[in-house]
Amino acid sequence: MEIEEQAALTSGADFWHTRAVADVPAVMVTDGPHGVRKQVVGEGLGLLASEPSTCFPPAVAMGSTWDPELVRRVGAALGEECLAMDVAVLLGPGINLKRTPLGGRNFEYFSEDPILTGVLATEWVAGLQSKGVGASLKHFAINSQETDRMRVSADVDERTLREMYLRAFQRVVQRARPWTVMCSYNRINGVYASQHRWLLTDVLRGEWGYEGVLVSDWGAVVDRVEAVRAGLDLTMPGPDDAGDRDLAAAVRAGSLPAAALQTAASRVESLVRRAVAAATPGATYDADAHHALAREAASRGIVLLKNDGGLLPLAAGEPSIAVIGEQARSPRYQGGGSSLINPTRLDNALDEITAHAAGTVRFASGYDDPEAAAALARESSVAIVFAGSEEETEGSDRTSLELPAAHLALIEKVAAANPRTVVVLSNGAVIRTGPWDAAVPALVEGWLLGQAGGGAIADVLFGVVNPSGRLTETIPVKLADHPSYLDFPGEQGHVRYGEGIHVGYRGFDAREQEVAYPFGFGLSYTTFEYSGLSVSTVDGGLEVRVSVANTGSRDGREVVQVYTSIGSSRVRRAPRELKAFASVPIAAGESAEVVLTVDAGDLAYWDVELGRWVVEAGDYTVAVGASSRDIRATATVALAGDDERRPLTVESTIGEWFADPRGAQALAEAFAAMAAAGGGAMAQTAADPAMFSLMASMPLGRVVSFAGDAFSPEILADLLKAAN
Ligand code: BGC
Repeated sequence: MEIEEQAALTSGADFWHTRAVADVPAVMVTDGPHGVRKQVVGEGLGLLASEPSTCFPPAVAMGSTWDPELVRRVGAALGEECLAMDVAVLLGPGINLKRTPLGGRNFEYFSEDPILTGVLATEWVAGLQSKGVGASLKHFAINSQETDRMRVSADVDERTLREMYLRAFQRVVQRARPWTVMCSYNRINGVYASQHRWLLTDVLRGEWGYEGVLVSDWGAVVDRVEAVRAGLDLTMPGPDDAGDRDLAAAVRAGSLPAAALQTAASRVESLVRRAVAAATPGATYDADAHHALAREAASRGIVLLKNDGGLLPLAAGEPSIAVIGEQARSPRYQGGGSSLINPTRLDNALDEITAHAAGTVRFASGYDDPEAAAALARESSVAIVFAGSEEETEGSDRTSLELPAAHLALIEKVAAANPRTVVVLSNGAVIRTGPWDAAVPALVEGWLLGQAGGGAIADVLFGVVNPSGRLTETIPVKLADHPSYLDFPGEQGHVRYGEGIHVGYRGFDAREQEVAYPFGFGLSYTTFEYSGLSVSTVDGGLEVRVSVANTGSRDGREVVQVYTSIGSSRVRRAPRELKAFASVPIAAGESAEVVLTVDAGDLAYWDVELGRWVVEAGDYTVAVGASSRDIRATATVALAGDDERRPLTVESTIGEWFADPRGAQALAEAFAAMAAAGGGAMAQTAADPAMFSLMASMPLGRVVSFAGDAFSPEILADLLKAAN
């Protein structure tokens, strides 16, 4: 291929297509993630008009299922819809961490935890790609806020970057091999993601072995030549003829290696050929089956936060139900921005509750007429209030965690009118549940549930589905408690990730803070008991076995969670880190033997001195529970860990030398040699325990400088050789 043709292949033909060059055809890529947004163009249609497709629950609800198998099925269904719509790559999943509850796109992301995110997203990608449709893992990386997203520099230390913000990407890349990865808009420690060679090439390709296409977020590329030099393959959207010319000119002038452009072009070509081979002209999908799957997934993502006195589930024969709040009739079921799906149909909770109920169902829209709603509640046997946020959208972050004032006032009035009040929330990111939830006996977190959410809510309210969703993010008592609070959204072009590894529950736990509802929390209509925990080591990792009994009278699902901590660590660790989980169906009165495995790699921390992952030797506490703050059983297991010996140097302190067996011996010998050479006083000082603590913090090189000629260069050279 000519240089100009190669350059042309590395930018889009338009907003949604790669460019046809020579015998390489064009293919379509489109959003994503929770449905296929195939744009239709035409006068008066608007920017986001698109063909109908199933609007599955956004990631906020999919994540709350904690069910990899279910997520995989949704991924596969998305793949079928892509095939039917001739879409080669679906732009998702979004796997940035929910660093702050104010994140405008939190509804598109799974969790504040990297392992939970990574496990679920791996299945999403695997499901989608099993149909011959590519995923686009986004946004790589550190795109955890919308404020100033196209410029802001996320300033983060390497350990936090590796352990928290890159960990899910690494997992999905290595386990599911996404066809494409999408770089983010923002800068990372000052460098645009689209030009970040260390991130795009050294880490993603070099360390993780990624072989697919790196595509830019739409408009993320500032400088085409620098982007290709850093390892970016495809710039979207297009056309960008000027950029193509710049690339070709840079290669001809020798300022960009020809191989860099060639490689980018050939990766795009491989992607296209792969997609063309998988394309299935005439493919269709079963819209009814997908709607049913969307309903199943939505019902599984609902989190029951509160259920005093067993108010829920409602009996089918509940005499009179007041359904209150416009959101029951006009559901809020997805967020705004590029992920906006035009659904194939749209259920609402009001109709679905009416369909389930044998008694009367009456409705009041509520937000404008709270008095009428309260009157209706007063004369009904139960009141269900629908409330929620109104503002999650791509492009901007939220400014508060509070419900709209009208919704708060409505809840207060209805709860005062009827003690049997249930609140159902619709929100894409955490909202504050206090202090108003004290007056409400039952609280259902309904997130944004996609097009079949209305039916899913009714299923949970009437106990057709026993709720098993769990929080993937902490609900704080108040915003100011949040670990990210002081360092969000940043200023003057920088946002400092000051809480480091203590993202979300890690931060709340480390500071022993009260929370409204903890990470991993969610109630059921039945009860579970844990027994017989045993932990063994397998391949350097863990195998955790525990028996869980359903001790109630309804079939249900328990989400068993495994958290680990280590007694003493070289580095600061969070008190509890999620390492494994399983969503297990257990019939009433039955028990299940649950086996969970933790790979050795997931126990590792990133050691900045060694520049690699290290599993520390030591005693690990394995805590198994129903949430991060409802631990039902613990066990301790000793792990041999990795070799983590660090080379001793003149910059190592005397304390570090003596802490190392080989170093201690070598240093003792060196001190003896020094004494023989006339440095007796210094050697004696080191031998005196009281003086030793003074010297312990001194780097060897400084001690040597105190010893004059007695510690000769030869002694030092021998010492370093013997120690290492
Ligand atoms: C978003 C991406 C999306 C792309 C294409 C960008 O603004 O950040 O998530 O895939 O647009 O619509």
